Amino acid sequence: MLYQHVKGMDDILPSGIKAWHKIESIARNCLESYGFSEIRTPLLEDTSVFIRGIGEGTDIVTKEMFTFQDKGEKSLTLRPEGTASIVRAYIEHSMQENAADMRLYYIGPMFRRERPQKGRLRQFHQIGVEVIGSDSPYADAEVIAQISKMLSKFGLTDFNIKINSLGCKNDKEKFADSLRRFLSDKESRLCEDCKVRVKKNVLRVLDCKKESCQVLLNSAPKVLQNICSDCNNHFETVKKVLNTLGVKYTVCDNLVRGLDYYTRTVFEITHGGLGSQDAIGAGGRYDNLIKDFGGPLTGAIGYAVGVERILLALSEKQITDEHLVIAIATLGDEAKIAGVKLADKIREGTKAVVCSDIKGASLKSQFRAYDKLGAKFVLIIGEDEIKKGVVVLRNMFTKEQLEVEKNMVLEVLKNRLKEG
Ligand code: HAM
Repeated sequence: MLYQHVKGMDDILPSGIKAWHKIESIARNCLESYGFSEIRTPLLEDTSVFIRGIGEGTDIVTKEMFTFQDKGEKSLTLRPEGTASIVRAYIEHSMQENAADMRLYYIGPMFRRERPQKGRLRQFHQIGVEVIGSDSPYADAEVIAQISKMLSKFGLTDFNIKINSLGCKNDKEKFADSLRRFLSDKESRLCEDCKVRVKKNVLRVLDCKKESCQVLLNSAPKVLQNICSDCNNHFETVKKVLNTLGVKYTVCDNLVRGLDYYTRTVFEITHGGLGSQDAIGAGGRYDNLIKDFGGPLTGAIGYAVGVERILLALSEKQITDEHLVIAIATLGDEAKIAGVKLADKIREGTKAVVCSDIKGASLKSQFRAYDKLGAKFVLIIGEDEIKKGVVVLRNMFTKEQLEVEKNMVLEVLKNRLKEG
């Protein structure tokens, strides 16, 4: 093969696209019912947007960004996530003037130079939301309730929502100091990655997956037990509202996230059937990021789910193609012209997907192709039918055939469709 796709950047082929459309359409309907509006930001940003937004010491910034010099002038980066770009756009377009709290959503590709494996790609797709302009715990609960509802609408059942609070910026700094103190005489027993994390991003040591590190951390201080009373009250209200809304969750006092901007509520949604890459979504509050980007102090919370992981978690049969296909089989030039006209009329008059032959294939191969497409009805037009001014309507499931007058085809079809 002369050319192949870049490793970790998959093609989405026509055979799989219906599932994507279905997920995207359920997400849009659900998000719009909560008052979210779509935002589309560019795939490329100045590298500094992500360094400032995600944090200099994070894995994403140190190891995973696709960064390049634009003809030697500017350092640009393919977006590894959506939040930093949206905060940049929020400030650049003075969006705080439009509404007290901006509810934004986005759907699109993100890029991280990770080692590809099942559920982990270099180009992957996120559906994400950002609520900017509120520090109310009700916003946290509503966002978590919304993600839970959306995942259920996708057809997912076996997912777990884990929540935690990291406290405010002050709490986070104090906790990082106490964790560093706790680890100071244990550093030599940490894994190589964690040795670096202690220096750059000590909270990340807490969610190291290596057992040897986890054993050392058993008696480590817990972030949730070290937050101030304001942050504690905030978290208690988040839980109370989630309980009222009937959203199931588990408090996980070890949960920290890989992005530096989080404060207070953080959450992660995992799915049992996914193996090691089991997070289908994650998010949290980032009350200091807008200020860090030069805007006013503004509360904000958001999340993103990974579309590829959602599709992996859903079994294929749950994402069925619900389109009704009607096909037109023609023989001869005159019939072909009548066929394209009829196809147009049926497209206008029904919601069906209508296919007609454009190759001049034999009737046999047209039938074979329409069978593969799962066509429910095939309308047959040959020389005889042209002469008689009729069309043959064939039900591909029952094999029943009947002759219908040309002008009556749409009406008869509509009646047949109503009958199911
Ligand atoms: P994140 O935890 O980095 O958060 O990513 C969110 C989700 O994107 C993950 O849970 C996972 O489903 C998916 N994902 C991440 N990396 C990959 C990958 N390499 N391959 C496949 N899927 C992946 C964020 O991106 C934050 N911006 C979320 C957020 C929005 N926080 C506040 N607002």
